[in-house]
Amino acid sequence: MKKNWFEKKIENISKLSGYKKPDKYSNAIKLDSNENYAVDISFFQDLINQTKEKMDVREYPLGGTERLVASLADYIKMPKEMIGVGNGSDQIIDLMLGNLASKETRILTSEPTFGFFEERCKLYAIPTKKIQFDGQMSLRLEDFVANSKKADILYLDSPNNPTGFQFPRKQLEKLVQSFDGPVIIDEAYVEFADYSIVDATKKMNNLIVLRTLSKSFGLAGLRIGYFVANKKTIDAFSRVIQYPYPLNTVAIEAGILALKRSKYFENVANLVKKERSRIIEKLREMNVFRVFDSKANFVLFSADGASKRIHKALIEQGIVIKNLGKVGKYEGCLRVTVGTQEMNSRFLTAIRDLLN
Ligand SMILES: Cc1ncc(COP(=O)(O)O)c(C=O)c1O
Repeated sequence: MKKNWFEKKIENISKLSGYKKPDKYSNAIKLDSNENYAVDISFFQDLINQTKEKMDVREYPLGGTERLVASLADYIKMPKEMIGVGNGSDQIIDLMLGNLASKETRILTSEPTFGFFEERCKLYAIPTKKIQFDGQMSLRLEDFVANSKKADILYLDSPNNPTGFQFPRKQLEKLVQSFDGPVIIDEAYVEFADYSIVDATKKMNNLIVLRTLSKSFGLAGLRIGYFVANKKTIDAFSRVIQYPYPLNTVAIEAGILALKRSKYFENVANLVKKERSRIIEKLREMNVFRVFDSKANFVLFSADGASKRIHKALIEQGIVIKNLGKVGKYEGCLRVTVGTQEMNSRFLTAIRDLLN
């Protein structure tokens, strides 16, 4: 029997791997998803308790995203007309690709890049050209500039997941300027980095900067993403493309309260950065890994042929990190999220014991 178009379509979609979510382990020290355990859970319990008093979930959150946008505007010191929100930056990426790109749009990005972005390009059959990381686990500006004329959209996560690499600001600005089409800079981890390019959206009309409260604010479970772009783009996105109520009431109210305490999160980010340096230093002292610098809340290191064994042995001890395989030119790469001081120490001790 002839297959109808619907069956064929589903069959084709089923052939794709989709974004592979991490495995769930109960009672484990979870250092595999770049979440932020350095934010104390009691802080969020207080926050959610206060949130309860502010909401009536029988109502649609009318005016809610607008209030959240006003708080975000205060936090990043940008005009609120230049900010849009989404159900996690994942949803913003999805809507952007679904509405701005097509089979005819060519995307330029890095290899590796953020996994979900890559999967969405596959789902929408958007052709991508990927620039490889070099032996220093860095990207070269010239490679992007050289390919810019053959691309319509540029996407870069800055810092990059999973390498932790970020272009120096001057280079990134140069790249945005050299590009005719939209440049999406995903700053999910920017609070752990040296700089943000968000203010450049005021003068660069083609620059779109994605941000999230999932990482430095530790609110991954609430799914609050946002982005900054020129006013026309934000208006078209928020009024036409985005759902009428993309964020739920709890997320909106908790997000607003969290943003009021941005100083607290700034201190947490500073602690994470200190711990990141400690992890890098201690792993390097072990003299067996190639450990890469990082501007994010995780550290990438190559364990070569030993990576699978180390990953498995850590799980047996209740510590979960991410096993990535080959990254750039390096085999056997592992990525560990920076957790609390105690979690990090447990990880470092476990890995040292494994080597002895
Ligand atoms: C580069 C990058 N962008 C976006 C996200 C997703 O952020 P959100 O939780 O806001 O969807 C992640 C999450 O790991 C990420 O690594």
